[in-house]
Amino acid sequence: MNIRSEIVGCGSYLPERIVTNDELSSKLETTDEWIQSRTGIRQRHLAADGELTSDLALKAAERALEHAGIPATEVDMVVLATTTPDNTFPATATKVQHRLGMINGAAFDIQAVCSGFVYGLAIADNFIKTGQCKTVVLIGAETFSRILDWEDRTTCVLFGDGAGAVVLRASEGDPEANAGEAGHNRGPGILSTHLHSDGATNDLLYVDGGPSSTQTVGHVRMNGREVFRHAVTNLAAIVEEALDANGMSPDDIDWIVPHQANKRILDGTARKLGLPVEKIVITVERHANTSAASIPLALDEAVRDGRIKKGDLVLMEAMGGGLTWGAGLVRW
Ligand code: ACO
Repeated sequence: MNIRSEIVGCGSYLPERIVTNDELSSKLETTDEWIQSRTGIRQRHLAADGELTSDLALKAAERALEHAGIPATEVDMVVLATTTPDNTFPATATKVQHRLGMINGAAFDIQAVCSGFVYGLAIADNFIKTGQCKTVVLIGAETFSRILDWEDRTTCVLFGDGAGAVVLRASEGDPEANAGEAGHNRGPGILSTHLHSDGATNDLLYVDGGPSSTQTVGHVRMNGREVFRHAVTNLAAIVEEALDANGMSPDDIDWIVPHQANKRILDGTARKLGLPVEKIVITVERHANTSAASIPLALDEAVRDGRIKKGDLVLMEAMGGGLTWGAGLVRW
């Protein structure tokens, strides 16, 4: 039997408070013009005092389960991608598990920074394909504002808070749709996932604290130019890897749902691949970079507004600290 993972629901949550570039420029030496021209960002949402990553994650997961029409009691795994857990331990996923009312299975966090959602997609897909799980809730949730140095204008203007989630379910696929040559590409489900990392580039993007090193939480530090250069190269390569693995070309893609770091990275990657910008789902102007949450936030928006339709080929890709990067190709 050929088990596949299908995405059967999605949901997202953004904190109420919106902070515009103009509001930032009243406290920092920056301007709306500088931020928009360098990144495409106009505003970001920031979590309220006392609003935690688990609160954001729970709301996104509840909405995804409601969208899928699946009760939490049927979920057998929660995978939560985050760089900003509530506490060093226990895993924030276990809090979400409890608050969802999930009574079976396991819950754990994973850490691949901005690539966390595609790493989680690979993990969930493999647990489902091996028959170990039937229903997985995969969440990307961040309160990145808590690890920003609000006096460092080179980083703090780039990020925001939010959460997104998908529900994945084991399916045997549609034998009709999957019949014939390269038929495995036609039925709904995850076609393939691809992950990479290169620890030699740790110092390009990191947090200068942690429980074992400084016993403090620390702040984001980044060499923006170098990250930008690696992003365009690595993201174009991972898209090609995913398409090659499935015998496809860029023309086959209906939608790219990328990690939303910077509009110029999205444009640069599209140019390198010869892809029209109209095929990219873009939310960075309103959400800024929400790290592991950015892909499921964008996905939820494009599914609910009808852009992504049944049968579409959707490619998700991301790069983040580590550096880590990855992609997932999904037939909707
Ligand atoms: N407002 C005004 N001026 C600023 C700001 C700001 N917020 N930040 C930096 N500057 C200044 C710098 O101090 C510098 O001034 P100087 O020339 O007097 O020294 C000048 O602007 C140019 O700085 P650069 O860093 O060279 O600017 P650049 O054009 O490279 O843009 C940016 C910076 C936007 C960070 C860019 O490098 C970038 O997008 N990098 C990718 C980083 C990214 O997206 N990281 C997210 C995490 S990784 C990921 O998710 C893929």
